[in-house]
Amino acid sequence: MTEAKRVEVKDLPEQEGEVVGIGGWVETLRVHGKVAFAVVRDGTGVVQCVLARDEVGDELWARGSELTQETSVAVRGEVTREPRSPGGFELRVVELDVLGASEAYPIQPKEHGVEFLMDHRHLWLRSSVQRSVLRVRAEITHAIHDFFYREGFTRIDTPILTGSIGESAGTLFSTEYFGETAYLAQTGQLYLEAACPAFGKVYCFGPTFRAEKSKTRRHLTEFWMVEPEVAFADSEENMRLQERFVTHLVGWALDRCAGELEELERDTLPLEKVRVPFPRISYTEAVELLRSRGSEIEWGSDLGGADETMIAEEFDLPVFVYNYPRQAKAFYMKENPDDPRTVLCNDLIAPEGYGEIIGGSQREDDLDRLLARIREEKLPEEAYEWYLDLRRYGTFVHSGFGLGIERTVAWITGRSHVRELIPFPRLMNRLTP
Ligand code: 4AD
Ligand code: MG
Repeated sequence: MTEAKRVEVKDLPEQEGEVVGIGGWVETLRVHGKVAFAVVRDGTGVVQCVLARDEVGDELWARGSELTQETSVAVRGEVTREPRSPGGFELRVVELDVLGASEAYPIQPKEHGVEFLMDHRHLWLRSSVQRSVLRVRAEITHAIHDFFYREGFTRIDTPILTGSIGESAGTLFSTEYFGETAYLAQTGQLYLEAACPAFGKVYCFGPTFRAEKSKTRRHLTEFWMVEPEVAFADSEENMRLQERFVTHLVGWALDRCAGELEELERDTLPLEKVRVPFPRISYTEAVELLRSRGSEIEWGSDLGGADETMIAEEFDLPVFVYNYPRQAKAFYMKENPDDPRTVLCNDLIAPEGYGEIIGGSQREDDLDRLLARIREEKLPEEAYEWYLDLRRYGTFVHSGFGLGIERTVAWITGRSHVRELIPFPRLMNRLTP
């Protein structure tokens, strides 16, 4: 191909009248008599490439009028204004090279079952809905770092292979580690607590693992979590940080992902309502509310997905449920001095039935009580010696939380199942692609 200035599709409007080159993949081809229209995607946008038989000669016409879905091509053409085209511009083709053929592309513009699409996830990523969803995820990731950077947090990268159980023994992945057992991290929290006296305000962001044996639309076995931890913050301050943070994420998506949310047909009205403060109810009030709506939940058990949905229906903002019974929660949460049956913690439940997106708490900073909880949960005490040191050497009030990215982006984009919110989901029955 003759040299032409290589540009990205998103920059075509600035090149009106110029002959430029693009590289991309053919999404569709339509031939109307002596004109062929190939829609080409390059990752920054899509552009219609127009081949006129009378202008391009037989050889190029033969090649261009038989392009198949997802063939990779290099196209050279003149950028012309065309209001009817997506993006308002098209490319009048001068030259076109096929870079990689694509015969019988498995995903066709028709309804496919979700298992089929998941089996072809490596190709499904190219479809416009999946692109929009993952673009929003990438923006939210950016917004997370933006928020904590501006708030003066230091990012701490916590280990994925760990020797101490972070949450509970029930959902662990373990692997042999030179004669010892290593676990895949369920959380980075315990390590963040160690970094707190060094940096004050810290956060981690990375993959976390839970051997979830349940097949629900809210559970992955590998998911990404952002976890801040703040020295000298109590549970109350922790909730205030959460509501500011979540409001920031939603605002960011509304500002920067308008096109994607439109493509996804997300009704943005409920998102536009998100502002501080968020409503709060105690766990005990939540149980009363649920029972008054016909639920048979007993005080003491954790809230399930259906309970969360029922609670969310009462509010049009994310809602905090705070101070759960301690037997329903992890060992590290601080006992509530006003009611020792409960701990100083909160979940944040998203509106519209998307469920718990945050779990957070004030941490038990009393050495003896923490040790008693570790024993009560029958966790191996030796593995927590280093963690107990944090209570031996300058213990301090501190709190933090974890926000699950996939559930949060499911809510923001309005997708019903978390498997679409991560590029390559890991589920109980899925390890490939
Ligand atoms: O409530 P969780 O278990 O809290 C923790 O892990 C704490 N250590 C966090 C902290 O205080 N630093 O999980 C936090 C969030 C949940 O609210 C949910 O959004 C998400 O992580 N999450 C999952 N997302 C997808 N699949 C799963 N299996 C998830 N388990 C938790
Ligand atoms: Mg939780």
